[in-house]
Amino acid sequence: MTDRYCVFGHPVAHSRSPFIHAAFAEQTADTIEYTAIEAPRDDFPGAWRRFTASGGRGANVTVPFKEEAFRLCDTLSERARRAGAVNTLILGVDGQTHGDTTDGIGLVRDLERHGVRLVGARILVLGAGGAVRGILEPLLAGHPASLLVANRTAAKAEALATDFGDLGEISGGGFDRVEGPFDLVINGTSASLAGDLPPLPDGLFAAGATAHDMMYGAEPTVFLRWASERGARTVDGLGMLVEQAAESFFQWRGVRPDTAPVLERLRQGL
Ligand code: ATR
Repeated sequence: MTDRYCVFGHPVAHSRSPFIHAAFAEQTADTIEYTAIEAPRDDFPGAWRRFTASGGRGANVTVPFKEEAFRLCDTLSERARRAGAVNTLILGVDGQTHGDTTDGIGLVRDLERHGVRLVGARILVLGAGGAVRGILEPLLAGHPASLLVANRTAAKAEALATDFGDLGEISGGGFDRVEGPFDLVINGTSASLAGDLPPLPDGLFAAGATAHDMMYGAEPTVFLRWASERGARTVDGLGMLVEQAAESFFQWRGVRPDTAPVLERLRQGL
């Protein structure tokens, strides 16, 4: 039987994951089936059970099920445990469900691809929601000199700094705490969706700094436009999307696909 994989979401029709994983499978000559499944909002565990009963070996999980997926796992990777969320489910040969989150490692791989060095870097992360919680462990594992989490609701950033404080130099607060220069600024807020920009001071970027937005689209986000005007190099979230998918593919199939050609094809289709 063909190994089946899917992405669960609600809605999920516009997910690019089926395209990405089909491209990976073509490249590695793996015969797999990968579909998008709209799980019912009130029964994610049932959707996963039904999927595995019909030959499902693993899944990606997107909005709004990442926390629910986390709760149903029998075992978890350390980074998923820290994130409190799961974007990759793996069915073990023993029938147990293992959960991992590959978003953060996807971000770090994409930054590496762009030549960004984390060691010794001064990093600013904007936002303190689920998306940011998922990237802090891999960022701190890169040994930055400092990592400041700044958020509209300061208490949420402070809580993250406490939760991840044993992993490195991390602090948290409101946007009023932000004082440059930084070598790397990552926008993990959903402000771009509303065309908003967090209030940021001038002098945010050090020479040679990189600005990354976890969002992507046909046009640069408001944040990336603002950063570009101030001399920063800009990177959008499309590369992170492909890299997190590649890491999930690796977890399932034991083969690492080449992400560059897939990213190029996706970019053309935006
Ligand atoms: P996600 O899963 O994408 O992280 P989330 O958990 O709802 O979604 O978090 C959204 C993040 O974007 C939060 O940090 C939120 O700030 P608050 O914690 O103060 O709500 C931030 N955010 C959303 N809209 C924003 C805006 N217009 N300006 C600044 N920050 C915004």
